Amino acid sequence: MSHPNIVAYENVENFDSFSKEQFEDYCNLKINECSKHINFIKKNILNARNNIEKSKTCEIGSGNSKLLYALEKNKLISSGIGYELSKSRVNFANKFGEFTKSKIIKNVDQDFLLDKNPLDSPFDLIIAVDIVLQLISPINIDHEKKALQWIRKNLKTDGYLILELWSLSNYIELIEKQNGIYRKWESFSDEDPWEFCLAEISRMENGDIIWDKTFLKRNKSNERSFFRNILRPYSKDQISNLLKKYGFEVIKFFDFWETSSDSVEEEYIVLAK
Ligand SMILES: C[S@@+](CC[C@H](N)C(=O)[O-])C[C@H]1O[C@@H](n2cnc3c(N)ncnc32)[C@H](O)[C@@H]1O
Repeated sequence: MSHPNIVAYENVENFDSFSKEQFEDYCNLKINECSKHINFIKKNILNARNNIEKSKTCEIGSGNSKLLYALEKNKLISSGIGYELSKSRVNFANKFGEFTKSKIIKNVDQDFLLDKNPLDSPFDLIIAVDIVLQLISPINIDHEKKALQWIRKNLKTDGYLILELWSLSNYIELIEKQNGIYRKWESFSDEDPWEFCLAEISRMENGDIIWDKTFLKRNKSNERSFFRNILRPYSKDQISNLLKKYGFEVIKFFDFWETSSDSVEEEYIVLAK
């Protein structure tokens, strides 16, 4: 049986469920959401390096590839490759690229670790945002090591790595206080086909966090959808030690991308080289 993290995003962003108008509005919204990443890259990498326009970029767990298209639109990269496990998301990303008239982004529907000779490697910039590393590490005992070795090997010596992580320390405390399982309900706005979601959060023996979500359909609460992620929590010290172990020398932390309201509490960004 596949690990839950490998199949979790299958069928997410199914292109067929969007009308033309919904699709275009959604893509525009997603591109706009990337302005915080773009400004971060301009401020923290472009300022330190004057040849960013020629950057060869790789995104791991690229989802719908919005960030790669936003980087292309802003003329910050010369090529981009996105690895994404979910076939529905890669299909969506390809349609997204047609919409933005992209010329330099390639979406690859496979686990990045299986690509031994990535196109355009070594890269100037490797990005894994929105807890991607935390989804990769729990897959098996050596995934964390393989992922960090792959990244170091495929990054230029003076290239940059950007990670977005979530320490989850509040949740760890809440799980302990609630004797091993913390539950919380969420409700969604009227336009959403799902009305409520019950999150059940617990810990595995090795410290990884099991995050189960059960969604209840609006007006039909017996219609449900289930989603499981297993997340490895990383404190700043833990990730700093790991990155040093795998060859990174300069590691900087940021508590948000651009303004303090653009990140969830306990999320942080790592810039390493
Ligand atoms: C939380 S989502 C983030 C998506 C995107 N980075 C964003 O910011 O919207 C994590 C994504 O990583 C993908 N993923 C997880 N493990 C992967 C792997 N080993 N190779 C490629 N993609 C992976 C998942 O399929 C999922 O779409």
